[in-house]
Amino acid sequence: MDPAERRNRLNLYRRSLAEVNSQTRLAAMEITRAANQWVCDLVAYEPGKPIEETARELGLEPGDIIKLASNENPLGPSPKAKEAMAAEIERAHLYPDGGGYALRSALAEKYEVKFENVVLGNGSNEIIELLCHSFMKPGAALIAAEHAFVVYKLMATLFGADYIEVPDPGFVHDLDAMAKAITPETRLVFIANPNNPTGTLVGQKEIDRFVEALPEHVVAVFDEAYYEFLPDPPDTLKHVRAGKNVVVMRTFSKAQGLSALRIGYGITTAAITGLLNRARQPFNANAMAQAAALASIQDEEHIAETVANNAEGIRFFQQAFEDRGWEYVPSFANFVLVNVKDGDRVFGGLLKKGIIVRAMRGYKLPEWVRISVGTPEQNQRCLEELDGLLAD
Ligand SMILES: Cc1ncc(COP(=O)(O)O)c(C=O)c1O
Repeated sequence: MDPAERRNRLNLYRRSLAEVNSQTRLAAMEITRAANQWVCDLVAYEPGKPIEETARELGLEPGDIIKLASNENPLGPSPKAKEAMAAEIERAHLYPDGGGYALRSALAEKYEVKFENVVLGNGSNEIIELLCHSFMKPGAALIAAEHAFVVYKLMATLFGADYIEVPDPGFVHDLDAMAKAITPETRLVFIANPNNPTGTLVGQKEIDRFVEALPEHVVAVFDEAYYEFLPDPPDTLKHVRAGKNVVVMRTFSKAQGLSALRIGYGITTAAITGLLNRARQPFNANAMAQAAALASIQDEEHIAETVANNAEGIRFFQQAFEDRGWEYVPSFANFVLVNVKDGDRVFGGLLKKGIIVRAMRGYKLPEWVRISVGTPEQNQRCLEELDGLLAD
């Protein structure tokens, strides 16, 4: 091919490439117009800042960073769970047990419910999603408290449903007000107990009154992600056993320290697990997660250590805040919400020192940060840096 012909062909090729690129850009623009408006309007969930990203930004080693941002277990997973995970590696070429037989059986035995009352999720977040798949659509409504866990709002919005926020005086869910907010359109009411990010708890009497008055077209969902940290937890499973439209959600991400594996579960009536099982992907709970979860529920010693470390950490932070006259919300979970006047400034200041906490602007609490309990050394370092930032 002579050079002129080659140049000609190259130019033609470049022009057609430019054309394709501009068409693709146009298509990308247009395709969002074709998408569901409620998805376009969603503000994506912002997780706690990862350790690796912070280390890169600060030029530090990941081991120098303290993450107190996502309510994880500072002691790590149970040694028994680690062993189970290692054994599971050999079977990584096989699909997991989609029915989750061993784990669901163990959970059913532990909580004195039937096998068909248990459904597994890819984290308990997936149980929220499966409930929304089953009950949410444009025109339907989900009720939650004003400062409830933000994923309820994300999910209701994702399904084009209405999200009804009920005021929570003193950051405590007001179940009577939530009952009054129920309409013929309501399908789901979420009660995070303890709630994240407030750490507050509603008691047995309020729960029982709420469930007794629940209309037949509504499902009450008790999100008990922090259940293991409660010395005297309210009994919500009795309502499941009595056949009420109640879902109890729990997770292996918190006290059991398996956040990375994504495994949670719901306990509810067979009618509701039937719906959730239809809505879920066949292999939503992966094999490594199922094996680790099964081992960790059998490791009561690790849970006891975790709970003791947490109780000590909560005491430490709350006493320190008390001594300094800082407003905080007494917590029943593994984190504390504290008023630092300017949450973004304190978040940024701590980050520069290699400590990641959670700013609360997204929860309409710009003055507050949420601090997860770490090891005693991590808690101490966090408090010293807070002192440095808040000294006047
Ligand atoms: C109240 C509450 N529910 C559910 C979850 C979801 O946990 P996971 O999906 O890791 O089980 C969290 C996690 O932060 C939470 O705080």
